Amino acid sequence: MSNPPPRTTASPTNEPAGVTTATTTRRTVLKGAALAAAAAAGSSGLSVLRPFDLEAAAAPAHRGVFGYGVASGDPTGDAIVLWTRATPPPETPGGPVATPGSGLGRPLRVRWELAYDQHFRHVVKHGTESARAESDHTVKVDVHGLRPYTRYWYRFRAAGETSVVGRTQTAPDEPRRDHALRFALVSCSNYTGGYFTAYRALGERDDLDFVLHVGDYVYEYGNGPDRYGPADLVGKRDGIPATETVDLEGYRLRHALHKADPDLQLAHRRHPWITIFDDHEVANNTWRAGAENHTPGAEGDFLTRRREAYEAYLEWMPFRLPSQHTVDHQGTRFFRRFSFGRLADLSVLETRQNRSAQVDVAPYTKTGGGFIPEGAPAVDAQLADPDRHLPEPEQLRWLERGVAKKGRSWHLVGNQVIFAPVRFPGAALGLPAGQYVNSDQWDGYQADQSALVAHLDETDSRHGDAVFLTGDIHSSWAMDIPAERFAGYRSVGVEFVCPSVTSDGFYELVSASRKGAPTPALVQTTRGLTTAVTSANPWVRYLDGIGHGFVVLDVTRKRVHADYYLTPVPTSALPDPRVDPSVEPAYATSWRTLHTTRRVVAADGPVGQRRDEPHERKH
Ligand SMILES: [Fe+2]
Repeated sequence: MSNPPPRTTASPTNEPAGVTTATTTRRTVLKGAALAAAAAAGSSGLSVLRPFDLEAAAAPAHRGVFGYGVASGDPTGDAIVLWTRATPPPETPGGPVATPGSGLGRPLRVRWELAYDQHFRHVVKHGTESARAESDHTVKVDVHGLRPYTRYWYRFRAAGETSVVGRTQTAPDEPRRDHALRFALVSCSNYTGGYFTAYRALGERDDLDFVLHVGDYVYEYGNGPDRYGPADLVGKRDGIPATETVDLEGYRLRHALHKADPDLQLAHRRHPWITIFDDHEVANNTWRAGAENHTPGAEGDFLTRRREAYEAYLEWMPFRLPSQHTVDHQGTRFFRRFSFGRLADLSVLETRQNRSAQVDVAPYTKTGGGFIPEGAPAVDAQLADPDRHLPEPEQLRWLERGVAKKGRSWHLVGNQVIFAPVRFPGAALGLPAGQYVNSDQWDGYQADQSALVAHLDETDSRHGDAVFLTGDIHSSWAMDIPAERFAGYRSVGVEFVCPSVTSDGFYELVSASRKGAPTPALVQTTRGLTTAVTSANPWVRYLDGIGHGFVVLDVTRKRVHADYYLTPVPTSALPDPRVDPSVEPAYATSWRTLHTTRRVVAADGPVGQRRDEPHERKH
């Protein structure tokens, strides 16, 4: 590597992460940028262009009953969750509108229909639900008794209006049948970070069984000094509410803002989603009793805030809360498992609610973890402390039982923070020399990490190979999972990590730390940084720190194939593709793992046609 190390001081993962060094944090960098842009806009005396109304979160409520679109989620072989938000018309002409978070509005009877065809000639199921202010007038229906691997269409009606038609399908989960299985992996969709063109690209595809979102669907930051994202979007794509979300009204509005986005509406309307929250659905780097971005007192009680954040999440997402009685757990059980015949199952983890506090090392981190140096005995002992946990022990046992289950080729694991060990060279992070680990990842909970690795090592490939599907770090990775930390290796499974939809990655961190540098130099520096990381971690076979987008996973009994779709490499003409609403991610590279090898290798190109399609029953 010939590039000088960038003077990056902030965490590319888990957002601000509290990496405090002698220079600045990412948030102070952004603060300066956002304020400068706001000042420039104000001093011109002109209002900046606003493709999105400042009241974007509330606007759909003024446009009709179903302005927030429709969504479906959590497909099983015989059930699917349908979702919408039904805004009741004002009780008097010109009266107050029941906007999200307002608590206003009478109950509204909503009829739903699920059909085999998009013209609703053959309605399979229908019913009525009540949209009430207590659930922010969101409606969720868990429709059961459906046929596996079957295409359905759905819509809602209320107050004389009809919603758009949604397209969905049940899971390819038929005994003794191997169907195609193809889905998208996404994470980290910061509204103020850019246009959701990745979601548009997903909505334009018709070959996906579902979209898997592993967290940071919304971010909590406001539009002030804490603004997160490029200054170019100030005034064009602002957060609502304008201040950090800390209570039920705020979280409801923030979710409504996302459901008002046309690209996200399209992606929800076209595919069922399977989702789980990470930290930002509440606040940055949460643990069981606090968060890096929570100030007790000034921002209220953390557990109250978290309860309200979860409430809004459950209202606004097409999420099926699993049984609270059949599996041991702590708090509210969100983790759950999906099944795809003998091909695969998908365990979706939840790793924030019960996690022990992250390990902090001054002056690198204050609270909530981040990049800390390895090697000090006291720190290493904390990182490996068997009493510290990422998922609660009950969930870890549940996962261990799941990945040992016979009769499936693959055990897919929807996961938030990177599972494989990764050491970051200090030079690559602009930190003093030495090796660093991110204590907000599984590396910060090495007893849990080692226990699961050992369990995978003992599990025979005939019982299925593990594939971790991860987000959080705003960059694209494909890697093996070594059986022994940092020592040669035998691999026990693989991990594919998706880039962010819009949130800042390594390139943006480098850019923030080298203001005014030409774009090609910033690209080169970012590549130097990621090369340094791969050199220090030979099991990391692929790492891109520049593009934003998504990964498409295609699963057969023989292999799991991952296609990476990324925004174009920045140029002097377009130094930040996220701020151009016409730029969609495009195919970039492919990696795959063959059954029983437990290794990732480069693949020749993107997957082609699906092997088969969901059943369509016209009449
Ligand atoms: Fe994120």
